[in-house]
Amino acid sequence: MILGIETSCDETAAAVLDADATVLSNVIASQTAHEDFGGIVPEIASREHVKHLPPVLDRALAEAGATLDDLTGIAVTAGPGLVGALLVGVTTAKGLALARNLPFLGVNHLEGHALSPFLEDASLSPPAVVLVASGGHTLLVHVRALEDLEVVGRTRDDAAGEAFDKVSVLLGRGYPGGAVIEELASDGDPAAFDFPRSWLEPGSLDFSFSGIKTAVRVLLDREPSLKESPRAFDVAASFQAAVVEVLVEKTLRAADALGAPVVSVAGGVAANGELRRAFEEACRERRFRLVVPRTEYCGDNAAMIGWAGKLRLDRGETSDYGLDADPNLPLATVANKAPRRKKRGR
Ligand code: KG4
Ligand code: ZN
Repeated sequence: MILGIETSCDETAAAVLDADATVLSNVIASQTAHEDFGGIVPEIASREHVKHLPPVLDRALAEAGATLDDLTGIAVTAGPGLVGALLVGVTTAKGLALARNLPFLGVNHLEGHALSPFLEDASLSPPAVVLVASGGHTLLVHVRALEDLEVVGRTRDDAAGEAFDKVSVLLGRGYPGGAVIEELASDGDPAAFDFPRSWLEPGSLDFSFSGIKTAVRVLLDREPSLKESPRAFDVAASFQAAVVEVLVEKTLRAADALGAPVVSVAGGVAANGELRRAFEEACRERRFRLVVPRTEYCGDNAAMIGWAGKLRLDRGETSDYGLDADPNLPLATVANKAPRRKKRGR
């Protein structure tokens, strides 16, 4: 059995997978201590992980009907994320591995998200284009093979989830804002305001969400009464429509350009019902197979880390005790090999 551990941001998570990669448990403790601050406070995140990880690990093992004796390996998120938060998971994984003499592996958090559709649907095979949209990331990943991922587009400024969060704060509805905006939007008119869609230069698969956030701010500064219900419903619906349109269209353009028949969306923003509906409609019309992981595999979770880690552990890859948390760990472009260092002295 493989133990997965995830502590990169504000979810403390542990999962147990059996030898054929079936998820036996997937425990997620979401931190609520950040709500008063309008965003995640790194120091608080680290302390909360220290507090929550031991009971979360216990529960993951208990729900799987397992003990530490049953484990054959450990996969832990090594980055990207908040360095102090990552360190809690990494040091815990190393400690357990040392105590039990187990192989362990540092996993890229984004690889976990990008491969989560394959965890959801075992019949799925690459190539696929996966949109990873969360509070910290928005990127398009071309999954050529399970061990060959390439980032083909990314946000140049805010992440999509970050835009939802910031607009929620602008509307006076607090943090985190994704589900709040979706709820407000369900009673609003998506055509009430024509917020900008940022397509960037022709052919670009990158995203930009800072412009739309500014457009919402300027509108609300000019007309503060729009923050009140029911007018706020229209602002939320129009904002959500603009973000959804760009996310869906760019993902399908990437799949078209790369000849990938499978499309997926993962990350916390994939919980958005309107985004899922728009993807379903567009994929039906344009004949892509769409796989959206269940909600518990979309947000930060350890099942995806255990699963992505197991693929690599099965290939004989392991980390050593020098494994460090890397807040900027890149999703490498060629078969996930580390980018070559430039030669010195030239
Ligand atoms: O993947 P995730 O759980 O954590 C990371 O950021 O890594 O994603 C959280 C993000 C937050 O920005 C949150 O506002 C957004 O996902 N989110 C949503 C929805 N639920 C969560 N965004 C739009 N609609 C939702 N229903
Ligand atoms: Zn994430």
